[in-house]
Amino acid sequence: MSSQDRRNFLKLCAASVPALAVAKRIGIAETTSPRVAQSTYRTPASLDRFIDPLPIPKRLMPVRERKGRTQYRVRMMEFRQQMHSQLPPTRLWGYEGQYPGPTIEAMRGKPVDVLWQNDLPAQHIFPIDPHIHGAMPPTPPVRTVTHLHGSRTTPDSDGMPELWFTPGHSALYRYPNDQQAATLWYHDHAVGITRLNVYAGLAGFYLLRDDEERSMDLPSGDYEIPLQLQDRTLDDQGQLLYAPTGDEGGKLPPGVWGPQLFGDLPVVNGAIFPYLEVEPRRYRLRVLNGANQRFFHLFLNLAKRPTDVPKPVAWHQIGSDGGLLSSPVPVKRLLLGPAERADLIVDFSGLEGKTATLTNDAFAPYPGWGLIVSLGAPLYELMQFRVTRPLSGNGKSSSMPPPQPLARLEESSAVVTRTLVLSDIMDAKGNSLVMRINGKTYGDPVTEFPKLNSIEKWQFINTTDDAHAMHLHMVQFQILHRQSFDPLAFQLGKLEFVGPPRPPAPNEAGWKDTAVVNPRDVLTIIVQFKGYTGRYGYHCHMLEHEDNDMMRPFVIVADES
Ligand code: C2O
Ligand code: CU
Ligand code: CU
Repeated sequence: MSSQDRRNFLKLCAASVPALAVAKRIGIAETTSPRVAQSTYRTPASLDRFIDPLPIPKRLMPVRERKGRTQYRVRMMEFRQQMHSQLPPTRLWGYEGQYPGPTIEAMRGKPVDVLWQNDLPAQHIFPIDPHIHGAMPPTPPVRTVTHLHGSRTTPDSDGMPELWFTPGHSALYRYPNDQQAATLWYHDHAVGITRLNVYAGLAGFYLLRDDEERSMDLPSGDYEIPLQLQDRTLDDQGQLLYAPTGDEGGKLPPGVWGPQLFGDLPVVNGAIFPYLEVEPRRYRLRVLNGANQRFFHLFLNLAKRPTDVPKPVAWHQIGSDGGLLSSPVPVKRLLLGPAERADLIVDFSGLEGKTATLTNDAFAPYPGWGLIVSLGAPLYELMQFRVTRPLSGNGKSSSMPPPQPLARLEESSAVVTRTLVLSDIMDAKGNSLVMRINGKTYGDPVTEFPKLNSIEKWQFINTTDDAHAMHLHMVQFQILHRQSFDPLAFQLGKLEFVGPPRPPAPNEAGWKDTAVVNPRDVLTIIVQFKGYTGRYGYHCHMLEHEDNDMMRPFVIVADES
């Protein structure tokens, strides 16, 4: 875009402010005046469950179409929104004043431009730990940069953490959408404060569609439901509390970085304990684990009470992070680490009058084996689906996707194997000080230089006590296998495997951009660096970990051979 174009684009944005300023949402947040009188607000601990309808984030309207590109403008703003009808409005940060942000819908082959504009106040909602890399004074406290997670984009539009900008500034990013249909999402990525910015509300969906998917008879419109799963802690005034803890769950002074952050309330699409009334038919659920670091192990439970024996509804996973799986996979329970997505089809037909509760039994921290299990009781119930609506229209149900060709990357085609050791560096009392990949920080010189189009194996070796969710920018990869190793031998410098390699389960055998590696496991992925040359990043997507310092840059270089 020339500077003239850019000026015109900005002018147009300014002209369209009134239309876009109507940033109210449907559902519980529709009214700016709270539904419940001041005196009858409740504390977060005493909220009634499942009394508010699930909000569906609104679709973002483009500013204009120009030369085959769809142009959007997205402002980051501070605002207040009710997260539960028995709570006062909560102070939040969000894209276009919404939490979650508005959904961007895109078509493969049709590029999108987004002017990301920082209209936030000068003060941060949360105290900032000044010891974290990239957040040291005199760095301004309020900084943002938006990353489109899962997209193949040039480095200058990728939203790398150090490319942040302050209130009053903006950045124009261009998304080629040159990849298959997938559930992508956008979120803040500012270095050293990503955890705080996302916790304040800066995340939203980006649904990339294509003709192939369009030609299928998948549930769409009112029957396609995005679900952004998160956890939050609120104080007695209903305001966000960002309260990380030490490794053993111990409290930390305010503003001090901690390796763990678990909210005590489930938040789905910005609402606490919502419900959705559904018809007895198929639905498509686009599930995103948008939590800072909680893992979700999900099932749809028909049991009446949480204490009853679980009665899971069968559902099918049809897609993973990067697009459709080769065929639908029946799953009963589904693990999603932070940033992972699952595209699901659930069939409510035959369940008329029943209630299915989206239930989670993952421990926090995950997987939580050993002594700390007792500290990490799960957020068991997240939201309800009530099969109370009559079948509308002619009741025609949609179908499952037909089998897809999915090219497996062959292990033998990898030209390089990189070994990446995840570690948690403790003080004398066993408290986490900093986390590392190969002992290095984000600011250390680049060590990984994959060649454009080459295929590589990356092995993540987890020497810590918790699982991590490893993510690479710009690419979609495949999981080759996971395998346990002997931690004692490893301390002596030898990687000795214990037991056979475990191939991915069928619902993990598609395209991924984030994958879980358990403690004492090696996760091996295979990835082709198709796309663009330049600087990108890879990191653990538990945001506290990525901020301090389980994140590294990599640089894709032109193949000169
Ligand atoms: Cu979802 Cu580097 O991020
Ligand atoms: Cu990403
Ligand atoms: Cu991690």
